[in-house]
Amino acid sequence: MAVIEVVLGDITQERVDAIVTAANESLLGGGGVDGAIHRAAGPRLAAAGGAIGPCDPGDAMATPAFDLDPPVRHVIHTVGPVWDGGAYGEADILASCYRRSLEVADSLGVRSIAFPAIATGLYGYPARPAARIARATLSATPTKVDLIRLVAFDEETYEVLTDFADSASS
Ligand code: APR
Repeated sequence: MAVIEVVLGDITQERVDAIVTAANESLLGGGGVDGAIHRAAGPRLAAAGGAIGPCDPGDAMATPAFDLDPPVRHVIHTVGPVWDGGAYGEADILASCYRRSLEVADSLGVRSIAFPAIATGLYGYPARPAARIARATLSATPTKVDLIRLVAFDEETYEVLTDFADSASS
């Protein structure tokens, strides 16, 4: 059973085996956390992403992490749902992002992983329902990963991710 921690910070500074980016289907990079990770990893990340993309919403694909420092072995690219009111399968796609990212992590022998709050920025997913899905999915998915770090970039996200710590584990 993985330990799940919630931290406030910049995911590009995480000391883990793999960091997850909230990508778009091209895997060529973008803004938000994807932009930060691509800037830190260097242009080879976009080249590697472009070589294996496109990635469907809810799926996850891995590349090396190139110039990320602290050194990270893998970047796992996952594509969240664009929020459209909640009646178009957004919750299932978001849950799949977390589940598939752990499956890819397991295939790579990853033991520690950092996630951003997928889909809650440009894609508009409300922070609280997204946090509930993240915690519930990560708690329910069997994995060999020992440590999962949920990296919030702002206080509000940190609070909602922390709020669900008990409910997901109870
Ligand atoms: N570290 C951790 N979290 C971050 C960082 C960072 N350096 N920068 C941004 N975030 C947070 C945002 O505050 C938000 O809570 O990541 C979360 C996800 O927001 P986005 O990066 O906008 O991702 P998403 O909502 O999934 O939209 C994806 O945006 O950047 C493009 O290419 C990307 O098209 C895709 C879309």
